[in-house]
Formats: sequence, C-alpha cells, structure tokens
Amino acid sequence: MTPRLLRLGPTTRPAAHFLTGEELSADRLAGLLDRALELKAGPLASRVLVGRTVALMFERPSTRTRVSFETGVHELGGHPLVLRSGEMQLSRGESIRDTALVLSRHVAAIGIRTGPDEVVRELAANATVPVINMLTAAHHPCQALADLLTLREAFGRLDGLVLAYVGDGNNVARSLAILGALAGVEVRVAAPDGYQLDPVAGAVLTDDPLAAARGADALYTDVWVSMSDSDDEADARRRALAPYRLDQALLDAAKPSAVALHCLPAHPGEEITEAVLYGDRQRIWDQAENRRHAQKALLELLVAGTD
Ligand code: CP
Ligand code: NVA
Repeated sequence: MTPRLLRLGPTTRPAAHFLTGEELSADRLAGLLDRALELKAGPLASRVLVGRTVALMFERPSTRTRVSFETGVHELGGHPLVLRSGEMQLSRGESIRDTALVLSRHVAAIGIRTGPDEVVRELAANATVPVINMLTAAHHPCQALADLLTLREAFGRLDGLVLAYVGDGNNVARSLAILGALAGVEVRVAAPDGYQLDPVAGAVLTDDPLAAARGADALYTDVWVSMSDSDDEADARRRALAPYRLDQALLDAAKPSAVALHCLPAHPGEEITEAVLYGDRQRIWDQAENRRHAQKALLELLVAGTD
C-alpha cells in the first residue's frame, strides 16, 4: 500500500495531513484563518462532514482539544468518534499501522493526541485519510492555529507582529515558532538554559524574559511541566522556570497594546499570575474558543480541499 504523501504549496492539492504545521504554505495558512473567521461568524455555514465520521484518538488527557474537536465536527454535520487508546486493541499490542488501515476504511479523518511524534508519523504514513496532530511531545499545531486566529482578531493583522513566549521551550513554543514564521510573526522564546527550544523556523532565542518582552505585541506562556515530562523533574523545572512567570511587570515591559496569551490549562501562581490570567489584557479565553473555529477550517481544508 502506498502511503499518501504530504502535498505542499498553494498551487498543489491540500495537505493530506497536519502533523507539524510545516505542511501548510503561507497562503494556505492565511486562507485557513480567513475561513476560520467566516465559520466563527456562521458556525453552521459549512456542512462538509454530513454523513461522515472523524476519529479522535486520545492517549493523553484533554479538555479543550476534545471539546473543540467534538463540537466542531458536530457543527460541520459530522460524527466525532472519541477513541481512548486504553479501550482499543492498541493497548493489547495491535500496531499503529493496522489501526491506521482499519480506521481509514471507516472515517474521513483521524485526530490523535499522543506522546511520541513517531506514533503520529507512523499513523500518517499508513492512513489513507488525513491525520491531524492533536498534541505530541514536540508539537501542538492546532493550538498555534487558534493562537494566530486570536492575534488576528486582536490586531486585525499578523504580518509584523512580535510574539514573546516566556517559559519552557516545549511543544507549544515549537508550533508557535513554525506557524508564526509562516504568518510573518516574529516569535521570540525566552527560556533558561536546559529548557530552551532548539533553533527552529527562525525563532529568536534568549534567556532574558524582559528583553524578549520589550516591544512585543503579545506575551505567551505555557505550563512548566508538560504531559510528556517526568514528574521526577517537576520541582527542578519549577525552580529553573520561576523567573519566567508571566506577570504584570513583564506585561508592562511589552507594548501598551500587548495582550497576554496562554494555551491552558493554567497554574495560576506558577507560570502566570492570577491577575494576568483573568485581567483585561488577556485574550486567553478567546484562544480556547478559537480552537473550534480554527480546527473546523482545518478539517474543511483537509477533508474537502476547500480554501
Ligand atoms: N490547550 C489544550 O490543548 O488543552 P487540552 O489539553 O485541555 O486539550
Ligand atoms: N505543553 C503542554 C500543553 C498542554 C495543552 C503539554 O504538552 O502538556
């Protein structure tokens, strides 16, 4: 069986999979965000999934991703089929390859949240329907789509904006770097030694949170201990990352118009203060809502090739 290949660029057919965000061209990303805004204004405007099913495999916990995909697929007229790996034959040794082959005979697309990125790549290599990365250890591209949509709403544009991510150089930071670069956003990542993002997509790397924040349009943070991190290192992480908390002083170092972002779940008092999390400069709850609108546009693009 020939695995479906990634299709790249604005002049070719739509990307078959969405694993890192690198499958999209700048034009396709801009079109997807335009479409997400249309779908936000008219949630039932697209019925692209009528009579079709989308499998949503969860090997890790989720609140926002599960709810936004389930509600989003429903709004597109489809049936969201949530599959927990512990309830599948995967938990008894069935391969990812065989799982991909079987699911592809039934569903229009497969979303997966797991740890190792190799699992998502193997699923995509064997599936004959689009595969969507709903979070791995290294990537969270669906989150970055919603974040860009939120910035676009807040500022009316993306090109030329500066986003400063402070904290752990993790999956969320990497996806912001990849998709931010595609959208013309300068992404700066401020993290301490040992927790810095690998050089990716032209992101500006520093260990100085104040320097990153100066002149920024948005400050972003995420948890200090991710689902793929060992609990054994949690205390060390909290000590190392404590100077990178998103608080009012950091927000004051950014532009007066700057907004605060967080993908959630948040730990108020750790990576973000309660005052910023619930303050009038945050757009965090918009981000959570925008997961649904952005993912609906993504599903439409992948399943129907609409742009
Ligand atoms: N931001 C995000 O992915 O949240 P969940 O882990 O709740 O899905
Ligand atoms: N970096 C976090 C994101 C949660 C949405 C994690 O991987 O757990």
